[in-house]
Amino acid sequence: MKFNNTLFGNLPDGREARLFTIETTSGLTISISNYGAAITSVIMPDRQGHLEEITAGFPSLEGYLKDHPYFGVITGRFANRIANAQFSINEKKYRLPANSGPSHLHGGPQGFHTKLWDYAISEKPGSVSIHLTYTSPHLEMGYPGNLKAVVSYTVFENNVLQIEFEAQTDAPTHVNLTNHAYFNLSGFRDNVFAHKLFVDADHYLDLDEKQIPTGKILPCAGTTFDYQALNENMSFVREPVDHCFVLKTNRSQDQPAAMLFHPGSGRMLKVFCTQPGIQIYTGNFLDGSFIGHKGLAYGQHQAICLETQHFPDSPNHPGFPSTLLKPGEVYRQTSKFVFETL
Ligand code: BGC
Repeated sequence: MKFNNTLFGNLPDGREARLFTIETTSGLTISISNYGAAITSVIMPDRQGHLEEITAGFPSLEGYLKDHPYFGVITGRFANRIANAQFSINEKKYRLPANSGPSHLHGGPQGFHTKLWDYAISEKPGSVSIHLTYTSPHLEMGYPGNLKAVVSYTVFENNVLQIEFEAQTDAPTHVNLTNHAYFNLSGFRDNVFAHKLFVDADHYLDLDEKQIPTGKILPCAGTTFDYQALNENMSFVREPVDHCFVLKTNRSQDQPAAMLFHPGSGRMLKVFCTQPGIQIYTGNFLDGSFIGHKGLAYGQHQAICLETQHFPDSPNHPGFPSTLLKPGEVYRQTSKFVFETL
């Protein structure tokens, strides 16, 4: 394995953002920055060994310093939307900044994706880990509690990227962290509809017109959200999606929560996770206005996100798996991306 630690760019206040690049023997090359704790690039061989970029991202820090559609970053403190940008804990109301109509989205405008995380590196035979730490002060973006978050990315020689999320607080608060990478396994030659998808979910969350869960958990069977077929029956992405799928509760964590396959290139991405849900987002709001790797303007449906997470707006849905974190507890989740060719 090869490992590099280079300068990614300087923040307006002069601080340095680093870029960590890890390459496995078979050529999978993953770059991660401590700015936004972002996966900035994944270069992957196809079935012929031809290397291509398969994530949306920017080649330098500059792109990440402006508003962007959360390319590859860690979204926090709370991934996805919180209705009316508010929640209550022990009858005390907390107001958060609204940045998606009346809703709070992905931790707010200065969420974790805008932070320069501290870093530590550990290299072992067969793996390299980047440990990123950010301590979010009490009431930052409206959330209570000083929250210490640690996200560890480990790239293994067998083309596995593991993401371990950890957080601790000194006052009750809500936490829901995810990585927001956009993938296109064709190397951006085709759009998301040329990909096949499997999701280990027989239910999904119903949404209202503001994309907030209504609380109804609906069956996937017989709907456009049915992606349960495997192998040769795996279905192409049929329609735009921006929904949270409820992973089967009896599923084994050794089984993929989702799989994305591009038949043309043979590239397959398997996603494993401990979280109860996965937000599938087909880049519906991409509009060509962000120019990334190799000068590519990312257009609508040119990439897909597979965001392992708790359910959106959980703080306002007592019936959903709880996202409340109390002092003395440790929030701990693991997600894994496995890159294969078929
Ligand atoms: C959400 C979309 C949102 C996008 C922002 C996704 O996680 O599901 O609704 O527009 O992030 O880039």
